[in-house]
Amino acid sequence: ALPPTILQILARNEVDEKVTVTGWVKSIRKQKRVAFGVLSDGSSPTGLQAVFHEDLGERVKQITNGTSICVRGSIVKSPGSGQDKELLVDEVEILGECDPETYPIQKKTLTPEYLRDYTHLRPRTGAIAAMVRLRSHLMRELNNYFANQGFTYAHTPILTSGDAEGGGEAFRIAPVSPLPSHEFFTHPAYLTVSHQLHLEALSHSLGRVYTLSPCFRAERGVTRRHLAEFWMFEAEWNVIPTTDPRAQTVALCDFVEGAIKGSVGESGIIHGEDVNALWQHREHDSSSEDDRAKAREAVVLAVTSNAAWPKISYSEAVRELLKSNIDWEFPVRWGSPLQTEHEKWLSETLVGGPLFVTDYPAAIKPFYMRANPAMEGEDETTVGCFDLLVPHAGELVGGSVREERLNKLKESMQSKGMDMDGERYGWYGDLRRFGGGPHVGFGLGFERLLGWVGGINNVRECVPMPRWAGKMDL
Ligand code: 4AD
Ligand code: MG
Repeated sequence: ALPPTILQILARNEVDEKVTVTGWVKSIRKQKRVAFGVLSDGSSPTGLQAVFHEDLGERVKQITNGTSICVRGSIVKSPGSGQDKELLVDEVEILGECDPETYPIQKKTLTPEYLRDYTHLRPRTGAIAAMVRLRSHLMRELNNYFANQGFTYAHTPILTSGDAEGGGEAFRIAPVSPLPSHEFFTHPAYLTVSHQLHLEALSHSLGRVYTLSPCFRAERGVTRRHLAEFWMFEAEWNVIPTTDPRAQTVALCDFVEGAIKGSVGESGIIHGEDVNALWQHREHDSSSEDDRAKAREAVVLAVTSNAAWPKISYSEAVRELLKSNIDWEFPVRWGSPLQTEHEKWLSETLVGGPLFVTDYPAAIKPFYMRANPAMEGEDETTVGCFDLLVPHAGELVGGSVREERLNKLKESMQSKGMDMDGERYGWYGDLRRFGGGPHVGFGLGFERLLGWVGGINNVRECVPMPRWAGKMDL
């Protein structure tokens, strides 16, 4: 086995224990007879305070911020405030020097914008390291939750033959070699925008399936919520038939709410060290301490309280937006997509927490969503679907009941200029032709979940090496 990490050493609660730790010096304060360093091995946000006495000699003088060192010593009770334990160093070895004159990651305020120019070095900052650990932890909790609900984690392809969302945002790919891509695969190839359609194929055999996988979109707008490469948590499963897809949408929303509360709230993640570190990280935005404390409390409450998150239909949302008498930049009209300003108002002002908006007009949603039976007050067809809106992070999840009826699916595809009997989507029709039944699914933006849970302002700080239009430097 490997030697214990700093996190494990600190959790063990043993003093006078002899340990060997390798890591990087986060900060060092040199006094006449003694130097105090904070050593990090990446396992915890706090690191370990190391005390170097003068008899260690010249070597301590060479230690600067960023130096890689190996220390041996004993864990003792710390007389200082700020930490329970510290390491009294007996031996120190310098493994890698770090020139303080040219090292770009200095203690002085490092803005997110500055750090984006040092994608390869920024994981050394506390906030980015905490975010990467939180990703890992969150993935583990989601895996646990879905395993307990009887789901199978399935691997779906990254290379696909079509644009699953029909949004026209797919990246087309080609080999570097002289061979044109259509000669390689015999038809054009794309990077996947969503794993949903492939998951649907798998769910017609395996039942409950999910994946956490990269998705790629050539987004036109450059916003703080969009990346060109992001990770989506997607699930598909079969449901008991009902004549009312609206009831299925309600059950789907309830399940998604339970999954988020279970993996983020009940798991304890929300009270963990890394989430604390992320919320305390001041450089991320300019809001006041008070505002941040309130925002954090609201997230904690949302994921830990038993109260159900409100649900309103798209039609109700439109009515509320009109009633607000706000002079919207984008006009509010039944049939138009909700814009960011509308979504923001609905979750932040109207509700002050997560909000499900359900049953959107079919015309503004993808082809695979199930048509609702006609309802009063709705002139055009709506579909059994939802968007989960949360304060600050915006649209966190989208999902729907899937159109399982072959003829209706065909009509819906036709209305969007797609041919179900054609070469490209024939396989999707087969899922209905051969033993298709009612099923539902959703996709959750992993970076946006992280941003919401950790109070991170921009999705570019929610993934280690972000890519967006105009930016991919390693
Ligand atoms: O709403 P979207 O486009 O839905 C789908 O792709 C469905 N096929 C999912 C499904 O039902 N299996 O994307 C789902 C979520 C969004 O709510 C958002 O959180 C995130 O994925 N997302 C992005 N996150 C970061 N950068 C982008 N460019 C994103 N586009 C979508
Ligand atoms: Mg969506």
